[in-house]
Amino acid sequence: MLITLEGIEGAGKSSQVEPAAGFVRAAGRACITTREPGATDLGRRIRRILLDPACTDMNPRAELLLYLADRVQHVEQVIRPALARGQVVICDRYVDATLAYQGAARGIAPQLIERLHAIVLDDWRPELTVLIDIPVEVGLARAWNAVHRGERNGDETRFENENRNFHERVRQGYLDLAAREPQRFRVIDGNRTPGEVARDLQAVIADRLHLPCPDGGGNR
Ligand code: TYD
Repeated sequence: MLITLEGIEGAGKSSQVEPAAGFVRAAGRACITTREPGATDLGRRIRRILLDPACTDMNPRAELLLYLADRVQHVEQVIRPALARGQVVICDRYVDATLAYQGAARGIAPQLIERLHAIVLDDWRPELTVLIDIPVEVGLARAWNAVHRGERNGDETRFENENRNFHERVRQGYLDLAAREPQRFRVIDGNRTPGEVARDLQAVIADRLHLPCPDGGGNR
């Protein structure tokens, strides 16, 4: 079972991944966590290029292909073997990030993105995607605070440097994807405490994996 977490900058996904995996393991299921871009040796090199704020003139299609290169390596080296072992995989960002960032925000046709995925990866859709939704101004303020506090690498701010409209398009792109595939997506309100978000996330995962529901959870 492949579960992906998505959201704009500062939505808080990254801090939710490990607690969610801990919840799955406590219920007796083997679970690994991973992320994009940069979960493999090759991917870490690609990530450095993709997030480098000095790379100001990257062509959007070149950017798309770098994310896809990272993904193919990641799927073949990490995700597919884990799924074959019967493990639950929780991945911080995946194909919907490409549809939201390179598609909705950069303007590449979603059909091209989907066709490329179909060519280089068979069966690439996750079974559950949780979108942690948050207003752009809240997310960007959190993301920049993390950079200023040194919790986030200042060499990885190429996307934070994009303007407010860019991030609004990413957010709307995600919400449109969620509306189009209500079976696969669950949307959680990220503008709350990490504990509240974690409880909703656990409830959504429990529902999909048929695990006992955590106390106080709820989803929409
Ligand atoms: P990362 O530091 O992992 O950010 P976050 O903690 O917000 O997940 O950086 C990943 C960046 O790459 C993020 O700005 C979103 C972007 N991205 C894409 O544009 N397309 C993609 O396909 C993926 C996976 C990420």
